[in-house]
Parts: sequence; structure tokens; C-alpha cells
Amino acid sequence: MGANGNTVSMDELVARQKPGFTLEQPFYRDPEIFKRDMTKIVSKQWLYVAHVSEIPNAGDYLLYNIGEESIILVRGRDNEVRAFFNVCRHRGSHICLEQTGSVRTLTCPYHAWVFDLKGKLIAARGMPEDFDKSKFPLHTCQARVCQGLIFICLAEEGDADVADFSEIAADIENFCSLHHLEDTKIVHREVYPTPANWKLVVDNFMECYHCTPAHPEYTMVNAYVKAEDRERGSYDATIDAWSEETRALGHPVGNDYGTDKGGRQPHGYWRQPIREGYVSLSEDGQPVAPLMGDLKHWDGGETAFTFGPLSHAYLCSDHLCMFRFTPVTPEHSEVVITWHVRADAEVGKDVDLERLKWMWDVTTIEDTKIIIDNQKGVNSSRYVPGPYAPQEGGSSALTSWYLERLAS
Ligand code: FES
Ligand SMILES: [Fe+2]
Repeated sequence: MGANGNTVSMDELVARQKPGFTLEQPFYRDPEIFKRDMTKIVSKQWLYVAHVSEIPNAGDYLLYNIGEESIILVRGRDNEVRAFFNVCRHRGSHICLEQTGSVRTLTCPYHAWVFDLKGKLIAARGMPEDFDKSKFPLHTCQARVCQGLIFICLAEEGDADVADFSEIAADIENFCSLHHLEDTKIVHREVYPTPANWKLVVDNFMECYHCTPAHPEYTMVNAYVKAEDRERGSYDATIDAWSEETRALGHPVGNDYGTDKGGRQPHGYWRQPIREGYVSLSEDGQPVAPLMGDLKHWDGGETAFTFGPLSHAYLCSDHLCMFRFTPVTPEHSEVVITWHVRADAEVGKDVDLERLKWMWDVTTIEDTKIIIDNQKGVNSSRYVPGPYAPQEGGSSALTSWYLERLAS
């Protein structure tokens, strides 16, 4: 590993990173480190990949591609959502080639081996009489559904480095059950190709030190940004007062950031008021869609979730935004945002799409640019790790967690 022309082992490189600082250049571009990121970090996380409404009927499938992996998410005839590695058990070809589709079976385009929707091999042309098809099912990928949100994990079932999904599910249920996320539909989806290392994408999402200079729209809507800019903790009294009123409505309140109990997956949430007089994350703070689920009141609050470094959610009374960050190559990531509203709402009638997508779309376009510029600077011969500011505590904590997991 070439730092200053010297050869250092990966373990030495990991060990010498300074706490509270960003990482040395190879962490943001070296293919060997990217491989290690994928095996030791990314493949051990529960990753949000899709919503159940994207594959509503038996045989509907979609692909999720991450690094070298391609995962088929398919709904079976028993209505269960399952995930399989998109790898034929004959000679390894990808089986599904289109991003989405609807199929009766999973049939490999190469020599036409046929798998059923549970991954069982049911036909293999011209194989000897004594060929035992039961020995060649598709490799399953772990999948869990909570409130309509589909998560997968690339690691084998029972891997001790993977968080217990029930901890993640408990928080989703506590904070989202009134919203009935399972009864939502996606009204907009945006893909932001981001030519930068995934850790720069995550670092940027985990701090709001950059919000004032980079995000005038987000800063205008979210009152906490300016308050925290003036003084750390200066929004706490506002949150406390709002929490009391909100609890009285029967809505959940609170915040907790950290990891699962085993420290294997970053995990957390916060609830707080958007801004005086605002009930939605829109430019004028007015609703952009009908109240979700069983909600009867506009509580003026927003809920943010972190499900590991790569999956995040922002929820308010009338819509949900799901964020999916995907590492593609050492210097390329994909950011996908989906906007969800209650399933029976009609776009154009109850849902104002332009006002709905405004804040996160404009903010993510701005983020994409600053992340790309960050990667360009990091690639310079003069880049050295820099100190995180107190307002970047979230990014700093995540970087420390990353180094621990990488070393373990
Ligand atoms: S590789 Fe799939 S049938 Fe041959
Ligand atoms: Fe940002």
C-alpha cells in the first residue's frame, strides 16, 4: 500500500489513523481497501433496498446491485418476499438481466436451468438421469421486511458480526407504526450517481456543519440547523417543549444515537420539531400530501433514522423519504431517494409532487456536488487527514466505528 512511497500493511494503515480525524487517502480510493470495506463492513450490515409496493404481485422481482453482488428480490406465490444471489448454480451466469420484471420462474438465459420462486432448481436440460437437482438451489440472501421496508444482509445467516434485526425493527415499529409505512406507495424516485467513495457520501450525510454554507433550503426549513450553529445544544429546550406537546397527542418522541447492542451496526433516530409553524418538510411548511396512516394530528415534527451507514430515512406527518447509499467501485457510489405517501393518495389531487420532492432533491443535488469536490481534493498529493469539528460528531463517531470494524 503506497503511502509516501513506502509499503505499509493494511493493518498498520488502519492502526495509525488518528481519532477525530478524517482518513488517509487510500481509504477513499484504494481497491484493496474497498474490497475489505465490502467484506468486513458493508456485507455485515442490514441494508434498506426497496419497499414492498415495488414488487406487489407474485413473480414480481427487482435487482439490487452492490459492489460485485447482484441480488434478486422476488415475491413468491405464498406472498413472501425472498432474496437470492443472482448467480446461476450451473456455471454462474447472472439469471435476471433486467432491473425489474415479472416472471413465473427464474430461468437462466445461458443454458436455461430453471429455478422456482423459492430458489429451488426445478429443471436442468440434458443433465444425466442421476443428477440431483435438490443439491443446486440458488444461494439465498438474508431478507427481512418491517412495516413494508425490505432490508437485506449479504452475510450468511447466523454470522456473529451482523446485528440482530429485531433491534432495528423495534425502533421502526415504535416510531412508524402510526404512519403505516406498509400502506404507502412511491410517488417519486431519483437516482444521483456520485463519483466518490461511499465513505465521503456517508460522512457528508452524518453531519450538518456544512448545512449553513451548502444548503440554504434545508437550513431554512429545519430550524435546528441555525440554532446548533450558534451554540451546541441550543435547540434542546425547543425539542423538550415540543416533545411534551407531542407526547400528549400520543405520538412517540425521543432520540437515541449509537449502534446495536453488539456495536455491529450504527443505529439511531431522533424526533424534533421542523420549525415554528411548519407541519411538513416543504418550502412553506404546508402539507404536500394527506396525513399518513392513522395519524389524526399534524405534530410539526420530523423523524430521522440511521440504519447503518448506508440506509437512512426521514419521516414527517405526510411523507417518508428513504435514502439508499450504494458503494459501486472505490470512487463511485449511487444515491437513491424514494418519496412515499399513503397508498390511496392521488398525485395531482392530494399530492403536490414538485413541493413534495423539493427539499431533499435540491439538497441532494447540492450534496452530490460537494461530495464530488471533496473526492477531487482528497485525491491530491497534498491531501492529509483533517480534524472533524464538534458539529461533525456524527461523522467522527462513524469513522471510529468503521476503523474498529475494519481492524476486528
Ligand atoms: S450458467 Fe445458467 S444454465 Fe448454464
Ligand atoms: Fe448535505
